[in-house]
Amino acid sequence: MAKKIAAGNWKMNGLMGDLPQIDAIAAAVPTGITALICPPALLVAPAAARTAGTALRIGGQTCHSAAKGAHTGEISANMLRDAGADAVILGHSERRQDQGETDADIAAKISAAQSAGLQAIFCVGESEATRDAGHALAHVADQITAALNANCDAQQLMVAYEPIWAIGTGKTATPVQISEMHAHIRATLAGIFGDTAQDVPLLYGGSVNATNAAEIFACPNVDGALVGGASLTADNFIPIMQALAAA
Ligand code: PGA
Repeated sequence: MAKKIAAGNWKMNGLMGDLPQIDAIAAAVPTGITALICPPALLVAPAAARTAGTALRIGGQTCHSAAKGAHTGEISANMLRDAGADAVILGHSERRQDQGETDADIAAKISAAQSAGLQAIFCVGESEATRDAGHALAHVADQITAALNANCDAQQLMVAYEPIWAIGTGKTATPVQISEMHAHIRATLAGIFGDTAQDVPLLYGGSVNATNAAEIFACPNVDGALVGGASLTADNFIPIMQALAAA
């Protein structure tokens, strides 16, 4: 897997009729990057079947921490893997907020995902109030040390820095803010994993689009992006993949 990652998070968007967007993205993945789309759970299997043999990978948006059992409505990491997924987003701020996911929940999910052979895309990020109070760096480091430990497989891990105030708002963090945070994340990971922390792709997320992508990808320690709204159509996502390939 190339360390440059363009990942799309469709969130709760997309019907069967939108699968041709995934076909078009799969047909346009530039060489030298890993491209990944995480559609809603019901589209994982059809998306993976349609893109088999292409360079596009498919992922889930969450999974349960247990391998199987009496958890009505939940989806296990093994089920995602069985459906053709290669990765899963975990700890997204929308799930921390809407479903009350805790750092301990996320740690357990990361472990379950990696045991099932999935890459864990672990999301961190501060609220606007936390940034305004000057605690953004400490908050994100706390999220990392609470969810990751040396038993976690650094080779099956990506970290996505997604400031909550930048998600879906059209506001992106500045290159200075992104560079400062990504250096801090890299150093925090080095404290857990040692030298292999260098291999963990660090993604930025929060209102990434075709216009701002190149500037974001030029920041040190930015290995790619986790893209929400601009990943829903091939027309919007393809230029982001191309900007990453050119970075
Ligand atoms: P956005 O979402 O690109 O629509 O801001 C990013 C995310 O939440 O992953």
